[in-house]
Amino acid sequence: MSSNEILHSNLSDNAGEETRRQFSYMEKAESYVKELSEKLGRKPTACVVTFGCQMNARDSEKLLGILTKIGYEEVDTEDADFVIYNTCTVRDNADQRVFGRLGYVSGIKKKNPYMKIALCGCMMQEQGAIEKIQKSYRHVDLIFGTHNIFKFAELLCTMFESDRMIIDIWKDTNQIVEDLPIVRKYPFKSGINIMFGCNNFCTYCIVPYVRGRERSRNPRDIIREIEYLAADGVKEIMLLGQNVNSYGKGLPEDEQMSFAELLSEVCKVSGIERVRFMTSHPKDLSDDLIKVIAENEKVARHIHLPLQSGSDEILKKMNRHYTKESFLKLVDKIRTAIPDVSITTDIIVGFPGETDNDVDDTIDVVKKAAFDNAFTFIYSKRTGTPAAAMEQVPESVSKPNFDRLLKVVQETAKQQAQRFTGQTHRVLVEDINEQDSSLVTGRMSNNTLVHFPGDASLIGSFVDVALDECHGFYYTGHAI
Ligand code: 5AD
Ligand code: SF4
Repeated sequence: MSSNEILHSNLSDNAGEETRRQFSYMEKAESYVKELSEKLGRKPTACVVTFGCQMNARDSEKLLGILTKIGYEEVDTEDADFVIYNTCTVRDNADQRVFGRLGYVSGIKKKNPYMKIALCGCMMQEQGAIEKIQKSYRHVDLIFGTHNIFKFAELLCTMFESDRMIIDIWKDTNQIVEDLPIVRKYPFKSGINIMFGCNNFCTYCIVPYVRGRERSRNPRDIIREIEYLAADGVKEIMLLGQNVNSYGKGLPEDEQMSFAELLSEVCKVSGIERVRFMTSHPKDLSDDLIKVIAENEKVARHIHLPLQSGSDEILKKMNRHYTKESFLKLVDKIRTAIPDVSITTDIIVGFPGETDNDVDDTIDVVKKAAFDNAFTFIYSKRTGTPAAAMEQVPESVSKPNFDRLLKVVQETAKQQAQRFTGQTHRVLVEDINEQDSSLVTGRMSNNTLVHFPGDASLIGSFVDVALDECHGFYYTGHAI
């Protein structure tokens, strides 16, 4: 099966009631798409544009699964017959980019009378977003949110039957609908949702408001999906959740399972050779989990562990439930148990009330924890979060602090990257190198990029590569 074919393209025997309903809508939608293709004299095209995180990337694969099943041809340019923006709202610049795209695509729609435009994802759940779109972007045909994405086929039917803007946003849900079609971007690797939503309410973060309460998928459904993927040629998987370390809370009593136990079970699926996961909250990372990673070669040597700030006072105001000291202790424990692990992080600069001294503490943690990489963000005020009501830091303070932090992050990452020079590592080949077609590009277990001589036949396979030279954030090497 190639990456463009669909997983769960047919109704499975154990499908639930809602899955069956959606499959019947897919049949109906298919007839509408057929009518459209007769009018156009060709297969209609669809383009899904994804903003934001890995969860959104996985959701887009679900949207494409349904679009492909009902007869659209996937394209990657916005001059398509159907364009869907799967939005993010974690920082304000993500919102602004979507409005920019909507402006651009209205020009294309004027030239194609059959064109449809849809919006979905986190930004649609945000206060005020819908009103703004209704007022200023009348050319949008369909809007839905994060909780009812499983209804996409049904919503498409409504869209085809109406000339009005269709809006369907739910405040929350406890529903998880299994076995809907999915098109994977890569044949050899895949993300898998293990839980949805977040209950942590970090005071700067909008995610709990737009993704709803935490709910875990049943472990049997997760393992079944992974077995399905393995049989389909997938070798590397990434378990996805806003806070995977709290996986299992709220599952029925006879299905209780911690994240450490789930990870260990997932590693037993034959054919799966590497298992990643994202994201870990430092407050919930258990000793059991460290043990499972240390003892299991299949688990990737990479932990993404968002620090956000190194100042105890700011961490408290952020509602993070750990201190500078306890974070550093945790990093120490991880590095002792798993010496070849890469630890990456997220850091916010400019949180309300943050001073130069607070940023000194953050820089101190970056140096002591020796992060292999860090994503640094300037704090962005999100309406409705507790931090939005706190006294904000002016850019004249946050910007120089951001620059100061970034310099240390880059120095530390560069130093850390070099530590594997001369060693041989297993690399999963992902692509032909973009700059030099005599090279292929892959990733080590710790997520570091490696370029080495090879051809397209290697894509999707594991190769042992000698790491000859470190170039800052990537290696060049040769297969052995
Ligand atoms: N401003 C800036 N960065 C944020 N993040 C989450 N909310 C905000 C915000 N309001 C960052 C955090 C998180 C990452 C996904 O995005 O660092 O870990
Ligand atoms: Fe946002 Fe905190 Fe939940 Fe992460 S853990 S999604 S930062 S509220």
